[in-house]
Amino acid sequence: MSDEAKGPRRVRYNGTHPKTFKDKYKELNPENYLEDVEKIMQQGKTPAGMHRSICVTEIMEFLKVVPGQVGLDATLGYGGHSLEILKCLPPHGMLYAMDVDPFELPRTEARLLALGFGEKEIVFKKMNFSEIDKVALESGPLDFVLADLGVSSMQIDNPERGFSFKIDGPLDLRLNPTTGKSAAALLKIIAPRKLAEVLYENSDEPHYEVITLAIMAKIAEGIAITTTTHLRETITEALVYLPEATRKEEIKKSCQRCFQALRIEVNNEFGVLDSFLEKLPYVLAPNARVAILSFHSGEDRRVKKSFQSLSRAGIYSEVAPDIIRASADECYTNPRARSAKLRWAIKS
Ligand SMILES: C[S@@+](CC[C@H](N)C(=O)[O-])C[C@H]1O[C@@H](n2cnc3c(N)ncnc32)[C@H](O)[C@@H]1O
Repeated sequence: MSDEAKGPRRVRYNGTHPKTFKDKYKELNPENYLEDVEKIMQQGKTPAGMHRSICVTEIMEFLKVVPGQVGLDATLGYGGHSLEILKCLPPHGMLYAMDVDPFELPRTEARLLALGFGEKEIVFKKMNFSEIDKVALESGPLDFVLADLGVSSMQIDNPERGFSFKIDGPLDLRLNPTTGKSAAALLKIIAPRKLAEVLYENSDEPHYEVITLAIMAKIAEGIAITTTTHLRETITEALVYLPEATRKEEIKKSCQRCFQALRIEVNNEFGVLDSFLEKLPYVLAPNARVAILSFHSGEDRRVKKSFQSLSRAGIYSEVAPDIIRASADECYTNPRARSAKLRWAIKS
């Protein structure tokens, strides 16, 4: 075969290990390395560049998708839930698949198209789920809706996105970096009282006062906090007074909570979830099924409150009496499943 027929050669990195995320050809194309992926998953880990869908069995058992239905996956991500749904839809069914992430959405779209699904069964929408009403104008009443809230493993793994305190990168934290303010830009202008409120209200950060003071002191000195490492170091310095025996673990938890709190703020995650929950009943067909998977008590509280009050108003005929959790087996093989809370509702 000529070089032209083989297509362009992959640009190789120097040395034995990829140095940057962009060099990591396996992580960026896990579907081409199925043996490696399988091995990593058997070890209870998530292969980089992939997302392991959570509570798939529980969600599919509840949604009861049947051929010919029209539904929405409001948080496409890696497309794992969508893929299971797509298997149940033909003939004549249609899945609207939405994600706000302009980088991961086309990758997932390409992956699902390569698996043989086309425009007859799936429509991709780069949209925020707070705009669910706009999709319904096109789709008509929906027979089922799934929302799997939060971030995907691909977003966390990519240092450019700034989601992880463990990897150095720009302090961005936006699900859609083409719009709004990054976390770094927010920290430059946020008032101390507001920052303290964000850390406490969004993530129950117990050390919110000292961390706020440390961030504000750096900014007052003209030291910008523009990378994930800057923020992690600032939190570490602020908590240096903690007892040595528990300090390391406490700092790790505070980093997790502070990054999460800022992520919720820059993406207005509670605000868009409230809009989604408010609009939801108006886009559902009679007897439509809704499943929402959340990973944060603030999100679960909102879902629970909305489902319960709309059930009292007779808009939902039935709602999950309790949270559904991932099975022990799933939690063992995918630790992220441990914090998942699934709730469902059925439209009257
Ligand atoms: C946990 S992942 C979903 C994983 C997916 N269920 C799967 O099986 O691969 C969450 C996804 O929701 C997206 N997302 C979060 N908030 C969103 C919003 N308000 N509107 C649309 N997509 C959102 C994120 O960009 C991310 O891709």
